[in-house]
Amino acid sequence: MISVSQLGYLGLSVSDMAAWEQFATTVLGLAVNEHADDGSLYLRMDEYHHRFLVHPTGADDLAYIGWEVADEHALHAVADQLGAAGVEVTPGTPEERAIRRVAGLIRFQDPSGIPSEIFYGPLVHFDKPFQSPRPISGFKTGEQGLGHFVILVNDAEQSINFYRDVLGMRISDYVHITPAPGTTFQATFFHCNPRHHSLAFIEAPNPPKRLNHFMLQTQSLNDVGSTYYLCQDQDVPITMSLGRHTNDHMTSFYMQTPSGFAVEYGWGAREVDDTTWQVQMHTSGSIWGHVRRTASLGGVAQEQA
Ligand SMILES: [Fe+2]
Repeated sequence: MISVSQLGYLGLSVSDMAAWEQFATTVLGLAVNEHADDGSLYLRMDEYHHRFLVHPTGADDLAYIGWEVADEHALHAVADQLGAAGVEVTPGTPEERAIRRVAGLIRFQDPSGIPSEIFYGPLVHFDKPFQSPRPISGFKTGEQGLGHFVILVNDAEQSINFYRDVLGMRISDYVHITPAPGTTFQATFFHCNPRHHSLAFIEAPNPPKRLNHFMLQTQSLNDVGSTYYLCQDQDVPITMSLGRHTNDHMTSFYMQTPSGFAVEYGWGAREVDDTTWQVQMHTSGSIWGHVRRTASLGGVAQEQA
């Protein structure tokens, strides 16, 4: 079975483009590469032409997921796996390939109906090295892709079968939390390269937003610390305080984006080696910290996660 190799890009549908450009550049430290004629914004975080395409289409949610594969052969192989599983696959048009800046592309929907794409041959710019508009050391990407994202899916079992048995990803671990008697929170984490997880999901049928958060991993703990204090200085709502996760060992905090979903800003995650990794189970999300906060300007009300 051919596996997708990394999370290549994410498409976001937002309502306030000006707020997003400001947030992405002055808080996250992403760089604007291009403004498209339709008002979309291409954002860079490494040598890729873009890792985010932000569209002024108003949903304030994930627009599409872009999974990368190595080459055209792998693209055909994954398309065959999708077809064999009964998933309708649409070849990308020349115009779509041009907009995404990729050599080849297919489109389909995941089991929750989330628009998804698999591509190969992204445009990369080693001739124009990434420079963050903020004084940070940059992001850990490369073979680990842009980072990770967490979505709410209609049916966990169906989604596990799809991402594991059709897209070829591997389960890293499970986090099962009981925040109160009778309520459970079950998340499943998937990897497709040494990044501990590129995708995680929680079952929640027909949620108001599919996207819970995406994560950017910095090269230095100082980048996380300086951004944590920048958010507090500039009243960017912090939705979870600084903490360290049980499963990927990421030291991170969560901030609210102009679209309501969150960004996890982290450093120092452990990596997965498929030759030795064994699936694990956790009953807590964090070793320390990650206190859930109700966002408000000028102060934070706290409740224990
Ligand atoms: Fe995360």
